Amino acid sequence: MLLRMHTVKAIYPGTFDPLTNGHLDLIARGAKIVDHLVVAILRNSEKSPLFTVQERVEMITEATREVGNVSVATFDGLLVDFCREQGAKAVLRGIRAISDYEYEFQMAMMNRKLAPELETLFMMPAEKYTYVSSRLIKGVFELGGDVSTLVPPLVVERLKAKVAGRR
Ligand SMILES: Nc1ncnc2c1ncn2[C@@H]1O[C@H](COP(=O)(O)OP(=O)(O)OP(=O)(O)O)[C@@H](O)[C@H]1O
Ligand SMILES: [Mg+2]
Repeated sequence: MLLRMHTVKAIYPGTFDPLTNGHLDLIARGAKIVDHLVVAILRNSEKSPLFTVQERVEMITEATREVGNVSVATFDGLLVDFCREQGAKAVLRGIRAISDYEYEFQMAMMNRKLAPELETLFMMPAEKYTYVSSRLIKGVFELGGDVSTLVPPLVVERLKAKVAGRR
């Protein structure tokens, strides 16, 4: 019999403004290999967001409802402090292209310096999502482009409401 000595909790941090199918792809992959995955929205991002933190929590909660071992949280301050608070052993991050690598590598090394016990896990999304970013989605949507295969339907609805509300 296999005796489980411990469980692995990981944090998937980001801005998620808004959630994309790329994020969802990564969440599904991460949730398969860790016991519990916490999608954590950074509250005080330097980016000025389109959606409020509450709206982003709602979108991620709805879109991940079917995945049993995923929950949603928010944090500010240092990611490593949040990970310690949560008792998480790992941070999940996505690598889309070489362009993500440099920044992600730097952050992973700094986090290791601050918290040597914490590991960063990198995963690649399905090829069809390798060019998808929240920023690009917002930009294309605002100009009238169809993003319906790149974000969940509930995000399309939220984008429509948000952009209509601003006109
Ligand atoms: N399409 C995707 N495939 C794989 N990983 C992704 C994808 N989009 C984002 N990620 C990863 O998810 C994490 C959180 O990213 P973030 O919230 O910055 O999303 P983003 O789409 O890059 O948004 P923005 O355009 O605002 O930077 C990062 O590790 C990022 O590399
Ligand atoms: Mg980004």
